[in-house]
Amino acid sequence: MATTRLHACLLVLAGLVLAINAAPLREPGHLNRRQAPAEEDGLLFLYGGPQKWNLSQWTAQDDTVRNGTSKSFLELADHEACSVHFHGNLNTTTLGGAAFASQRTADLLSLDLSTYDGLILAVGPNDGKNYSFIVMDAIPPLVDGREQSGLTWEYNVVADKWGGIVAIKWSDLQPTFRGRVQPNPPPLNKASIKRFTIMARSFFNQQSGDFSLVVYGISAYKNVDI
Ligand SMILES: *[C@@H]1O[C@H](CO)[C@@H](O)[C@H](O)[C@H]1NC(C)=O
Ligand SMILES: *[C@@H]1O[C@H](CO)[C@@H](O)[C@H](O)[C@H]1NC(C)=O
Ligand SMILES: *[C@@H]1O[C@H](CO)[C@@H](O)[C@H](O)[C@H]1NC(C)=O
Ligand SMILES: *[C@@H]1O[C@H](CO)[C@@H](O)[C@H](O)[C@H]1NC(C)=O
Repeated sequence: MATTRLHACLLVLAGLVLAINAAPLREPGHLNRRQAPAEEDGLLFLYGGPQKWNLSQWTAQDDTVRNGTSKSFLELADHEACSVHFHGNLNTTTLGGAAFASQRTADLLSLDLSTYDGLILAVGPNDGKNYSFIVMDAIPPLVDGREQSGLTWEYNVVADKWGGIVAIKWSDLQPTFRGRVQPNPPPLNKASIKRFTIMARSFFNQQSGDFSLVVYGISAYKNVDI
């Protein structure tokens, strides 16, 4: 359906522009993604919008690493790769109430977002579950080929059913280690962001079963009224 596809792309751009009252967006042209993310007035598009989603840059990290049985998937939600569908199943039976399923950036990033005020998560239609958006500035080395727990900077959000713009100031991110908020963490190194994760989790039996969230984009913002 052409109208649906158009919507997905337009909503990313129009939604963001309307929400932050920024200048009209320019055509980003052929930018090299790694060296020059699409920068517009006050907005740096990281994923989605003019920076089309590339599924090879994302990978699943589910509770199967702890012998759980939850699953997550990330698929393009429109033919222009402007949006993605994060979905799957949280199974709280296997691990006695605990469950998580997530998609994270696959390669180590090295993003300097130090001049930005925070991040904007533009989400689309969803099931009303409580989702976590997680930022990391350091990835502990693997032990026996396995990921180790690290300090994560987390934001939990229940979006409107049809989605919306979620502005996350740096100070909104909660420093967390193994599920516990850390009172005195080292500050987030915004000059070297290494990983983004989009997660569905049970919050100890508070939610379970199938989950579904459309994500339009992840951007950094500065000097804009949110
Ligand atoms: C998608 O990402 C992969 C992994 O980083 C990269 O090798 C590939 O060139 C990218 N594809 C496009 C179309 O940018
Ligand atoms: C997962 O199961 C394997 C095989 O039974 C076991 O060796 C491993 O310790 C388990 N991992 C966790 C995190 O419980
Ligand atoms: C959840 O896990 C349990 C135990 O591992 C399994 O019996 C059940 O079929 C799973 N449920 C779903 C919906 O996959
Ligand atoms: C989402 O879950 C977190 C962690 O349990 C909780 O603090 C927050 O209030 C929840 N958000 C909503 C809107 O229920």
